Amino acid sequence: MSEVLRLGIAGLGTVGVGVVEIVQKHGALLKRRTGCEVAVSCVSARDSSRDRGVDLSGYGWVDDPVTMAERDDVDVVVELIGGSEGIAYDLVKTALSNGKSVVTANKALMAHHGAELAELAEANGVGLSYEAAVAGGIPIIKAMRESLMGNEIAALYGILNGTSNYILSEMRTGGRGFADVLKDAQAKGYAEADPAFDINGTDAGHKLTLLAAIAFGVKPNFDAVELNGIEHLLLEDIQFAEELGYRIKLLGITQKIDGAVVQSVEPCLVPRSSPLWAIEDVYNAVYVDCDAVETPFFSGRGAGRMPTASSVMGDIVDLARGIRVPVFGMSSMHLLDAVHAPMDRVKSRFYLRLNVVDEPGVMASITAVLRDFGISIESMVQRGRAPGEAVHVVLKTHGALTGDMRTAVEQIGALDVSVEKPCLIRIEDDL
Ligand code: NDP
Ligand code: HSE
Repeated sequence: MSEVLRLGIAGLGTVGVGVVEIVQKHGALLKRRTGCEVAVSCVSARDSSRDRGVDLSGYGWVDDPVTMAERDDVDVVVELIGGSEGIAYDLVKTALSNGKSVVTANKALMAHHGAELAELAEANGVGLSYEAAVAGGIPIIKAMRESLMGNEIAALYGILNGTSNYILSEMRTGGRGFADVLKDAQAKGYAEADPAFDINGTDAGHKLTLLAAIAFGVKPNFDAVELNGIEHLLLEDIQFAEELGYRIKLLGITQKIDGAVVQSVEPCLVPRSSPLWAIEDVYNAVYVDCDAVETPFFSGRGAGRMPTASSVMGDIVDLARGIRVPVFGMSSMHLLDAVHAPMDRVKSRFYLRLNVVDEPGVMASITAVLRDFGISIESMVQRGRAPGEAVHVVLKTHGALTGDMRTAVEQIGALDVSVEKPCLIRIEDDL
């Protein structure tokens, strides 16, 4: 093991500056802990003139980050630019091909190109680590890829996007509007460059893809994730859920059904008895259903400068100690091409909010559709009374197959009395 580990840090935004701060603040501690000096050789961003609130004067400046992958004074490329294609992909590929280890926080890149990059890292005998890419400051990749390797995993449920959890929490506690809270999350450095990824489930889907790959020993396959975001939720849904004893959480869910891997991101109603119920603000959490340790639960800050930088540093410390772990928990040649199944075969209870015209016979038309699919209603509440006008009706069903429920809701939405698309939310009672 060498006495110094030299970093090239590409990207000096929210996360990149946090990493520089930790290296500068904890240099001596890191050396005592690893027996190796962790030093920054060079940094890169778009704008070399911007004051980033940290002293960069001792480091080389690189205009084109891909050239970091060719420098003799860089052992590890720390990729903190973002994006699944373009400069981040070129940089990581070139670094691995040139025999340099890579540490990245880029879940989009890993979800789309993880299998190829893992093979490249193995072929070149270098590390590729991405702890910060999933659930911010929670060491979930380490837990999944190392500590839980003695378990067969049946399912995993996670609150995997800090921005959307922050939005849902703020809407619930402060009655604030969606757009206002999203702006706040952006100002705090939680949101992606394109915040649509946070609210439409894409970002959580990227992270779920990586967790599913480790959990089930399959190649990451983002295309197989069913994505549903929080954009269509109303403040009323959050309030109805609260009245019923639930909170709405955007959950990433992966499980095996008859040997096939199911991957989905969708808002779910989580009961008060679940540990996920209390996960608020920018916090993330992961609940794993395993055969030996049963149901370990992890929580912590899921986004933001220092929690994410903490995870990046954990990966750098592994490299300083000479530790390299297979990218998805096993050699790439053993990763399987998963057979994927849709959520349609998953059975659960559902919350259904309808906006329907308040007139005689409406409930009969709705319940007739549910009856035709064998879906039984547990409770039904009408909010307000406005003859001839639209009112909200909220239903809770008994257990039903997702596929049946979705088709029934489509038919209910097409009834003349429906004035807007119904809102269907899974109730996750078993967590
Ligand atoms: P930012 O947008 O804050 O920072 C991105 C950085 O990349 C900026 O410094 C920018 O330069 C630089 N950059 C962009 N394009 C280029 C280019 N062509 N050449 C050189 N530098 C470039 O992003 P974050 O720090 O928030 O995120 C970085 C990564 O970490 C992403 O993959 C993100 O998904 C991931 N992540 C982020 C978390 C968070 O809480 N923010 C949490 C977990 C993961 P300049 O500053 O000059 O514009
Ligand atoms: N935008 C992401 C989130 C950052 O809000 O969770 C952390 O990956």
